[in-house]
Amino acid sequence: MGKPYRPKDHYFQKAKAEGFRARSAFKLEELAKRFQLLRPGSRVLDLGAAPGGFLQVIAQAVGAAGLAVGVDVVPLRPFAEAWVKTAVLDVLAPDALAVLEQLAPGAFDAVLSDLAPKTSGIRSSDEARSLRLAERALEVSRTRGKVGSSFLVKLFMGGDFEAFRAELRRDYQQVKVVRPEATRSASVEVYLVGLGLKAPGGPG
Ligand SMILES: C[S@@+](CC[C@H](N)C(=O)[O-])C[C@H]1O[C@@H](n2cnc3c(N)ncnc32)[C@H](O)[C@@H]1O
Repeated sequence: MGKPYRPKDHYFQKAKAEGFRARSAFKLEELAKRFQLLRPGSRVLDLGAAPGGFLQVIAQAVGAAGLAVGVDVVPLRPFAEAWVKTAVLDVLAPDALAVLEQLAPGAFDAVLSDLAPKTSGIRSSDEARSLRLAERALEVSRTRGKVGSSFLVKLFMGGDFEAFRAELRRDYQQVKVVRPEATRSASVEVYLVGLGLKAPGGPG
């Protein structure tokens, strides 16, 4: 049985002490190190970026020669770094891809999605909404990623997990499933990592 969820746990306190906006920053630090997702000078797109924990890690890793773009339905507190761009965007909106293209033209080295629906407590519906967001993130990643680029996506474990993983395998050379150390023990979320986008646009 998992440990009970404690909102002010070790990673919450650590995030506060280290000046991170969210405990999720540690998940990205861990995953980025393990899979070399972030490099100086990289162009990185962060979907579902608020309050900005991932984006802080990205901004630091890519540096002034890179670009960090974060979007969310919720506005993000501004960043001091000139190479960080943020915008309010519903990624499920029909024109989301066009808006993203306008906001940040050019291909990305990595597309990251920590998108998560507001949970209802009804497991099947939460899983379905999480999958819908993950599918949209994959669509963005395969259309906006460079050949060889990386993709990181959060997903609630559910019935369609295997089908989604199979979809990723068609687009990426390697696909890994991970549960970061900094993930709450009671959580049902996992991350999928796609390494080496085969071709931009993908099979669709
Ligand atoms: C777990 S939080 C992201 C935390 C973030 N990675 C960080 O480190 O601060 C999930 C985010 O997904 C956003 N989100 C959910 N549905 C969305 C949508 N349709 N379009 C854009 N953002 C969405 C939520 O507003 C929320 O901020």
